[in-house]
Amino acid sequence: MTSVALLRQITDYANRPDPYPLYAELRKTPVVRDEDGPYLVSTYWEIKSLLHDPRVSSDARNLTPEAARGTDLEQDPNLPPAFIRLDPPEHDRLRRLAMRPFGPPHTPRRVFDMHGELTEIVSGLIDALRDRDAIDLVDDFSYPFPVTVICRLLGVPREDEKHFHEWADTIAASLDPPGTDEERQAQQESLRQARGDLAAYLAGLVEERRRAPRDDMLSAMATDHGPDGQMSPVEIITTAALLLVAGHETTVNLITNGMLTLLRNPDVLQRLRSDPGLAVPLVEELLRFEPPVQMLPQRTTLADIDIAGTIIPKGAPLYLMVASGSRDPQRFTDPDRFIPDRTDNQHLGFGHGLHNCFGAPLARLEAQLALTELVRRLDAPRLVEDPPPYRRNAVLRGPRHLPLTVSGIR
Ligand code: HEM
Repeated sequence: MTSVALLRQITDYANRPDPYPLYAELRKTPVVRDEDGPYLVSTYWEIKSLLHDPRVSSDARNLTPEAARGTDLEQDPNLPPAFIRLDPPEHDRLRRLAMRPFGPPHTPRRVFDMHGELTEIVSGLIDALRDRDAIDLVDDFSYPFPVTVICRLLGVPREDEKHFHEWADTIAASLDPPGTDEERQAQQESLRQARGDLAAYLAGLVEERRRAPRDDMLSAMATDHGPDGQMSPVEIITTAALLLVAGHETTVNLITNGMLTLLRNPDVLQRLRSDPGLAVPLVEELLRFEPPVQMLPQRTTLADIDIAGTIIPKGAPLYLMVASGSRDPQRFTDPDRFIPDRTDNQHLGFGHGLHNCFGAPLARLEAQLALTELVRRLDAPRLVEDPPPYRRNAVLRGPRHLPLTVSGIR
């Protein structure tokens, strides 16, 4: 089968509940390409090596014009890419600047300081479920929790969420491979609109924080003077938009996929209930087994690269199929089994290399706390339907709803 046929199957909504057999098919040829489609890389070692290869760019401006026409939904000249879509040295400068409010590099102090605050938010959301015997885990818990956290961290008023959640959804959906030309055009138009609206909204807030700083990331980015100087106003806006969208659209799926997996494996749910320490390796296993980010669709080559015997030419679009890599039997023993205390678990769930997830310490802590508290406090939770209804997105994959019945809240 060609890569495009497989990519079309992977993005086909009918396969959203279980794309993993398609990845197994894909891994038979580590690098595949159809005539005018992107190169799909699906095996662990090849993906990892490309994620560490300086000849691989995250900046869509390096695509050849023909490749850009097919895949690039980017460029608004007034709004340059955020650092997830930039290469060194700009990437490194902006990532360092964004990291400063978190504390010294590699010690995300601010995240550990948030433990009490996170517990309080989780408890409040679960308390609100008292007197209910049916809940939708997504709307009642998995979505409001990380959104409240990222809003507080950035200093974005939580009550404004009703305005920006649609913009964030549109931006997240734009990561998916475009369909027909018409779909692509419609997608481009709504993306431009959503980006513009979000940028205008954030510009107003940044200005407020510059005049009257508070203890939040927007204020820190607007007033900081460190060894790297300052972010420009546009850089603050694109960085804040990146953090807002990343903090919105990923952790929700990790928590929901986590609860779904636990309910499908009641013995593991029971183990977590009696041993909360299991949450740490269990969340790593979830990031391997049911990762919220299924593929990294936005890479391109800066030179011809020979990988697994295929030459990927300069300027070609690359899709790194990280969810497939994390199930590669060449790397993981028994990869299709969920083993909550798996050791040697260097999954690709947070990417790897210089773009590895900036929010990983926060996302890990959120998921560990959420799952531990949900299994401790929900009495006899049961799935109403399996599989549940999924979001349309293939790249940021997860259930749209997770209806559960419970016999009470402890
Ligand atoms: C990058 C996954 C939560 C901020 C990434 C990448 C992955 C990822 C796979 C690599 C992208 C690439 O290489 O192109 C996840 C998952 C999360 C999560 C699975 C939740 C379970 C968060 C949160 C934040 C965040 C909560 C914000 C606080 C970022 C940023 C980048 C990134 C800023 C870009 C890093 C760079 O380019 O240097 N994330 N993420 N993520 N993530 Fe996350």
